[in-house]
Amino acid sequence: MKTINITIDGPAGAGKSSIAREVASELGFVYVDTGAFYRAIALFALDYPTKRDFLRKLESECHLEMKYFGGMQCIFLNGENVTDKIRTQEISMKASEVSALPEVREFLLEMQKEIAHAYNVIMDGRDIGTAVLPDADLKIYLTASAEERASRRYLELEDKPDMPSYEQILEEIKQRDDNDMHRAISPLKRTNDAVLIDSTKMGFHEVCEEIMDLIETKFDLD
Ligand code: DC
Repeated sequence: MKTINITIDGPAGAGKSSIAREVASELGFVYVDTGAFYRAIALFALDYPTKRDFLRKLESECHLEMKYFGGMQCIFLNGENVTDKIRTQEISMKASEVSALPEVREFLLEMQKEIAHAYNVIMDGRDIGTAVLPDADLKIYLTASAEERASRRYLELEDKPDMPSYEQILEEIKQRDDNDMHRAISPLKRTNDAVLIDSTKMGFHEVCEEIMDLIETKFDLD
């Protein structure tokens, strides 16, 4: 039976993950956070002093697995649950860097396609609607201004020890946007068939509702 595939692409901090997770749970779909795959590879790469060493070991020694615990996606790198470890600023920047490498994108492409082939999914990332699932049933491009994304991130981090300033967060967001949108392979971009949602002035529930409305209009899921 053909599965239903819904993609959500967009820049860092646009709220893709929390929104995709919520919508997937309402629909009973599998939520796939593809950024976590790139982050886990970034963590793997930290063990290698050069890009050459890292790429040489990628195929043979980097085993990724995705498991679900009560709807939460957990990512395992060589048997270790690294779900929390990959949520640091250092890994964010490294993931943006390794994701520009063709070998890394190739390494993950089949894995992502296979998941979408096996399950009804909401898959979020940067190139899901363009490169991974170009024939997806519904494509969404979710964005917000860099300032709004930085201030959401700032509020999320508030009161954490060693938290960066708003200006630092904004700078990093702009840097990642630049990397993700201008890399040679599978850059982040909106395709003509993707529905644009600009959440700069929208709340979480409003965005979820808009996406649910799009889905209900498009599919008969009863
Ligand atoms: O969504 P995220 O911030 O967890 O993603 C981390 C990095 O991985 C991001 O800077 C770009 C990269 N990425 C990608 O290139 N393609 C995807 N489908 C998902 C993430």
